[in-house]
Amino acid sequence: MSDVLKNRRILLIIGGGIAAYKSLELIRRLRDQGASVRCVLTQAGAEFVTPLSLGTLSGDKVYTDLFDLTDTATIGHIELSRDADLLVVVPATADLLAKMSAGLAGDLATTLLIATDKPVLVAPAMNVCMWTHRATQRNVEQLMADGIHFVGPNDGDMACGEFGPGRMAEPAEILAAIDAHFSENEFSGNPPLKGRRILVTSGPTHEPIDPVRYLANRSSGKQGHAIATALARMGADVTLVSGPTNLTAPAGVNLKRVETAREMLAACEAALPADVAICAAAVADWRVDIDATQKIKKEAGAATPSLTLVENPDILATISKMKKGRPALVIGFAAETEKVIEHAVAKRARKGCDWIVANDVSPESGVMGGDLNTVHLISDGGQEDWPLLPKQAVAERLARAIAAHFEPKKTKS
Ligand code: CTP
Repeated sequence: MSDVLKNRRILLIIGGGIAAYKSLELIRRLRDQGASVRCVLTQAGAEFVTPLSLGTLSGDKVYTDLFDLTDTATIGHIELSRDADLLVVVPATADLLAKMSAGLAGDLATTLLIATDKPVLVAPAMNVCMWTHRATQRNVEQLMADGIHFVGPNDGDMACGEFGPGRMAEPAEILAAIDAHFSENEFSGNPPLKGRRILVTSGPTHEPIDPVRYLANRSSGKQGHAIATALARMGADVTLVSGPTNLTAPAGVNLKRVETAREMLAACEAALPADVAICAAAVADWRVDIDATQKIKKEAGAATPSLTLVENPDILATISKMKKGRPALVIGFAAETEKVIEHAVAKRARKGCDWIVANDVSPESGVMGGDLNTVHLISDGGQEDWPLLPKQAVAERLARAIAAHFEPKKTKS
């Protein structure tokens, strides 16, 4: 993990919603990254989590009452609101967003939010009708215009039994948003990858069987997209060639959407030359050897059709073995379900890439489609084992390794 959260002071405001329980995991993760966390619990929040849990995990006093702070022996509310690098509201309920938008200051949490001169990140969580209600959307627009940062909400199943937008972002996503907030500020003015052209592939490919059917795999594209985002934030000129995913286009990235492996290869070749190529896509190894322009019909009594597969081009190997204009650094991924390191080392040699990022994608790892990843970076320099991290943090760490690779070597004076 990057050091960007080390010694950062986070003031965590916990609102009153069922998602408040996720604040407990967030505290633990923030502290794992070296940040200090001080908690403020609203009266409604205390219906869902206790000061004892928050205090135990944060290792600090938990603040609940505005009038406690009038005592001169304790920290005042102005000081409490400013003695932090970032205020994070988890969960930001419809009520809290409305109060923030109106500038109300009737309790400790809202007083701190209006008294602070520090940036504020909110993670909304509420029922789908509450989130989509015109009043909430008006408040969100106002808060965005006021410079409040948002993470989520996501679409999903809700505790109330409904489905839709309003589910709070997961702790890993909130952590990544906090990380991104500090990284952006860290690089403002002097981004380490400025002037570097980087090609990233991401997502699965879809190989058509006929106009309505295709072969695909379980890749979500989350890791490749996160890498493109992290590189762009560090100033790189990024082209992201992506197969079909449900993800939104990352900010500041040149996105080329493709479907098949052959389209992906063509888009990659068009994006070269580049300083770095990172092949994170789960390219289908085979396509169907068929040219069906019409839907294959299930005729009564006809035999079940059999599919003949032919091999797709290997994009990583093609780029790695380019005779002319090969990127200075080519990075592959090795998604394995067993003997992860052994297969990755062999794959690096076979494909000819410089670095390979090996990961376990067995069903029990939860990596495919999930938010976390455990990877090993294998290069000429040996093998680095990274801990279990959110995919955004893996991306951040890889981007930093690339920046360090291109840093001019310091000469001894
Ligand atoms: N890759 C590629 N083009 C392909 C297949 C794979 O660019 N046609 C890239 C992937 O983006 C990844 C690396 O090669 O960086 C390894 O992909 P992986 O699916 O793990 O390996 P395969 O080559 O498919 O080998 P195997 O299926 O035997 O594990």
